[in-house]
Amino acid sequence: MKIITCAYIALSLYTSIIYPSETLEEEYTPAYCSMLEDAYGKNMMSEGGADGICHMFSDISLDNKVALDIGSGLGGVAFYLAERHSMQITGLEINPWMVAESEKRTQDALKGKINFVFNTNNGSLPFSDNHFDVIYSKGVLTHLESKEELFNECYRLLKDDGLLVITDWLSSDIGKWGSHMGKLIELEHLSIYPESEKDYVSCLEKSRFKIVSVRDDSTLYRDYNMGIAESLRTARLELLTGHEDRAAMQASIEGYESIAKAIEVGELRVIRFVAKKGNL
Ligand SMILES: C[S@@+](CC[C@H](N)C(=O)[O-])C[C@H]1O[C@@H](n2cnc3c(N)ncnc32)[C@H](O)[C@@H]1O
Repeated sequence: MKIITCAYIALSLYTSIIYPSETLEEEYTPAYCSMLEDAYGKNMMSEGGADGICHMFSDISLDNKVALDIGSGLGGVAFYLAERHSMQITGLEINPWMVAESEKRTQDALKGKINFVFNTNNGSLPFSDNHFDVIYSKGVLTHLESKEELFNECYRLLKDDGLLVITDWLSSDIGKWGSHMGKLIELEHLSIYPESEKDYVSCLEKSRFKIVSVRDDSTLYRDYNMGIAESLRTARLELLTGHEDRAAMQASIEGYESIAKAIEVGELRVIRFVAKKGNL
């Protein structure tokens, strides 16, 4: 009986990692996004908040660029960049409620610089060839089991010499998540797919991109996630007044700890890729 129970638990854990039970639309509910904002800052749904955005674009020239933000969420990255640069930014989202919400949250001063578009087909993005100077994506593409058709589309949409800038979660070289990531996936019902750096690079190259740089930002994000877990634990009582779901808040704190531990042991890597259309 004990063996059957253990086998059942192991199988449930395995299948939920390989076959996530929810769609991305179901995963990113308003309540879940509100908890992400508690951790990362207003309108931000990925790690690092404003510092993470600065770091992602630390050596990328953005002034006077036309940009596409893949997986724009609540618009945090686009707002941050448009406030600081003379850019034209289109945010692309698979969640219709987030498109409406980010439009609502766009300040008047940014209205001529930003727009948001709903799209669910990675193989057919609704823009013309050679349209963008920069395509970027922060904390999104680990949700895609296969990135090839999206990368092909990015190549088509970029102008010659255009840049693709991605910050993403990668696995270790073995291309599998380990136990800490398994725990995170269970806690937050996430559908995220492990991909090694080698496979990621080869997928970009298959789509004809030239790799400009691959930067490992893992240590920065390990410390960041541990800090978030600590500050949420300290502030939990205050935060809980705004959140009815105590179990969800506890899961969230354990989730940040799992991310930090996964980075610590090397089963999760946070990598920034810069790839170019055209010659280096
Ligand atoms: C972790 S959030 C990051 C949002 C935003 N980039 C940020 O940093 O605040 C991931 C977002 O990507 C969106 N997403 C996932 N796959 C997508 C795809 N194929 N195309 C567009 N959006 C996608 C999700 O709906 C979600 O809003």
